[in-house]
Amino acid sequence: MAPGRSAQGEDAAGGRCGRTECAGVPMKQSVLVTRAVFPDVVERLREHFEVEDNPSDRIWPKAELIERLHGKVGAFTTGSVPIDAEVLAANPQLRAVCNMAVGYNNFDVAACTARGVLCTNTPDVLTETTADFGFALMMAAARRISESEHFLRRGEWTQWFYDMFVGSDIHGATLGILGMGRIGQAIARRGAHGFGMRVIYHNRSRLDAAIEAECKASYVGKEQLLRDADHLVIVLPYSSESHHAIGAAELALMKPSATLTNIARGGIVDDAALAKALAERRIAAAGLDVFEGEPTVHPDLLTVPNVVLTPHIASASVATRRAMANLAADNLIAALGFGPNAGKPPSPLNPEVLRP
Ligand code: DGY
Repeated sequence: MAPGRSAQGEDAAGGRCGRTECAGVPMKQSVLVTRAVFPDVVERLREHFEVEDNPSDRIWPKAELIERLHGKVGAFTTGSVPIDAEVLAANPQLRAVCNMAVGYNNFDVAACTARGVLCTNTPDVLTETTADFGFALMMAAARRISESEHFLRRGEWTQWFYDMFVGSDIHGATLGILGMGRIGQAIARRGAHGFGMRVIYHNRSRLDAAIEAECKASYVGKEQLLRDADHLVIVLPYSSESHHAIGAAELALMKPSATLTNIARGGIVDDAALAKALAERRIAAAGLDVFEGEPTVHPDLLTVPNVVLTPHIASASVATRRAMANLAADNLIAALGFGPNAGKPPSPLNPEVLRP
């Protein structure tokens, strides 16, 4: 979309004003904030737009989302709000969709590009926080923190014994990273520099030698990664290619003492196969922040003790969630031609639509 482009004359809602002027009176363009978000971030948007928001945070069914988007030129979304061909076809006035998430598998980017709709996400601002959490989840799984806490809370701790909740070490172990983008690299640095781990990784493409050296990480094939890792961390983006990248066959290659941590997206790991491998102790433990079909969790994962489960909170520090919300707002404001970056949103996913 060209800088400063407005939705003038493109209002498919027939009468709902997506225009910049009505009867000679300048009008603000309308945007939709699809989920509850920090009130001051909504206020920032109101400086530029008419804003319909969702303070009650009710999840709108798709038909309602489509209806509420009528007349809106922009949408502030989160990773669970679908923006696909059907939504776009019903809302041809839409110009920008701005995710408060680094992941964007809720967007059909190709369909957006075909319609000239800008897509943005929130990279970088969550990298270190998410890497911290991935490391925490890996350590909790390896050292059996959830499992032992539940034991204590159930009142079953009556005496100390020598092999009580023995787990596996992090320091000096082999850290395997599947997906070596920004977050994978941040996890590698923690492992190599903080915990003296040997770091191996597998990625679609090998990293530059300088980045490998800085992360002290060696590139290996996927099969070797699975066989050699003491602790496997998954940080791949979700796509049809990464769907079930870890299933029964891949789990069978892992060491029985190994842990698996998934902070990427549900669907990359076959959760049913993982629950079976955990129940049969074919791997030692897992840490999961994301799930296939979340917020529903596979019932077998809820019954195996050797898994730490968290509700998709890897980026959830106050500072980072605020940074994500503000970056999504910066993107929306700039995409629709306002603010200091008018026409140049900070993190476009399909910048080709910005070209005049
Ligand atoms: C992200 O930013 O993609 C996180 O998973 C939150 O949705």
